[in-house]
Amino acid sequence: MKISASILSADLLNLERDLKEAIDGGIDLIHLDVMDGHFVPNLTFGIPVGKSVRKRFDIPIESHLMISNPDRYIEEYSSFSEYVTIHWESAVQVSRVLQKIKEKGIKAGVAINPSTEVDSIEGILDRVDYVLVMTVNPGFSGQKMIKDALGKIDILRGIREKQNLNFEIGVDGGINRDNIKEVITHGPDIIVSASAIFNGKIKENINFLRNAMSVSVNGSGNS
Ligand code: DX5
Ligand code: ZN
Repeated sequence: MKISASILSADLLNLERDLKEAIDGGIDLIHLDVMDGHFVPNLTFGIPVGKSVRKRFDIPIESHLMISNPDRYIEEYSSFSEYVTIHWESAVQVSRVLQKIKEKGIKAGVAINPSTEVDSIEGILDRVDYVLVMTVNPGFSGQKMIKDALGKIDILRGIREKQNLNFEIGVDGGINRDNIKEVITHGPDIIVSASAIFNGKIKENINFLRNAMSVSVNGSGNS
């Protein structure tokens, strides 16, 4: 199971320092929450920040595009990302945009909001490398988890097994020390977190998540 650190809760004036500490602490991926003030009610960062992070660090970057016209920016985001994830709800021809991402030789992801059911994306699951299950409404870090959405991880795992597919399953939003064990019991491949990693002592936070993960995995008998 991988840990992906969303820089949304990092100290952006000290991003290099915070990311270095997170990488030393053992994160597997950097999660870039790109917001456009249109698809979601918040604005964050984008291509220049992603390129700067890429120049300085080698670990994989996943760009989570919470923007209305992701198709316009695939070229740029693919240039520094290992995964580019677009939203099912972004009102574009998702399948075509996913294809465009794949043609760049990187992983194509689709994210679904808490109110979107797995049924909606079932027809494209054979074309994705990554499904990001949102457990908050996208827009901000530090929100309370919508636990009802966790069941979608189980549904996706079932479909993956039955249809012999390969996509990874990520979970994003509201993960904290109190609910991490419960999240793990659903068996995601990637855990995304902003505040539970960057608020407070970064290495200690990552250790806590890692320990909770291994205890739960061993406890539930999964590998
Ligand atoms: C929400 C973002 C999440 C967010 C997670 O719109 O997609 O990645 O940064 O933040 P936490 O872990 O604090 O809920
Ligand atoms: Zn995100």
